[in-house]
Amino acid sequence: MNSDMYKINACIFDLDGVVVDTAKYHYLAWKRLAKELGFDFTIEANERLKGISRLDSLNILLEIGGIVLSADEKEKLAEKKNQWYLEYINKMQPDEILPGVKNFIKELKSKGIRIGLGSASKNAKLILNQLEIIDLFEVIADGTRVLKAKPDPEIFLLAAKDLNVDPHQCIVFEDAEAGIEAANRGGFTSVGVGDPKILCKAKAVIPNFIGMTLDKMTGLIG
Ligand code: G6P
Ligand code: MG
Repeated sequence: MNSDMYKINACIFDLDGVVVDTAKYHYLAWKRLAKELGFDFTIEANERLKGISRLDSLNILLEIGGIVLSADEKEKLAEKKNQWYLEYINKMQPDEILPGVKNFIKELKSKGIRIGLGSASKNAKLILNQLEIIDLFEVIADGTRVLKAKPDPEIFLLAAKDLNVDPHQCIVFEDAEAGIEAANRGGFTSVGVGDPKILCKAKAVIPNFIGMTLDKMTGLIG
């Protein structure tokens, strides 16, 4: 497909790892939980938790630790982890927005491109408020609104529906493998933000948003 044929109507941004680096806070909270349960949780293993839901993350963590628990016990541990995570989130400042992303979104909006958020996080609105950027997003599809977590495309399809756009005319920005798969399965153009080795299934991969413009982006995916 060439750039003449490809018309971008909307962009959907994942939150954690794309707009803000909350992965480090998730990691600290999961590590603390693992420690309490008697095993170590490494930064490498944390990569597996990116983009997936809280409960799916806990299941992977417990699998790493070789621990089997009831649904009730899991619920309590997930809540405990979230309380620790919130302690970090509540201290976040607007300067933690990842470089370039705010300017890029503003440029897109000035050119009539619609902007949505597609995040598995149930804390998405809290984080956007904390960063003072909630008004940049016309539509927020988050973990409180869907049943199926990434790599299922439900969250992005919901954002596209709310934005009233066709997935084929919409870019999804994602830092996680599960998110790229979700975007691809939903018929979106996927752009990875981060490591091209991890995000090899994305249509294009950028290291970050520094200096990114609509023209450059169209060139990358065209
Ligand atoms: C994002 C993160 C995941 C996290 C998920 C749920 O997708 O990348 O690491 O598990 O959100 O976040 P929550 O804030 O609801 O625990
Ligand atoms: Mg992410």
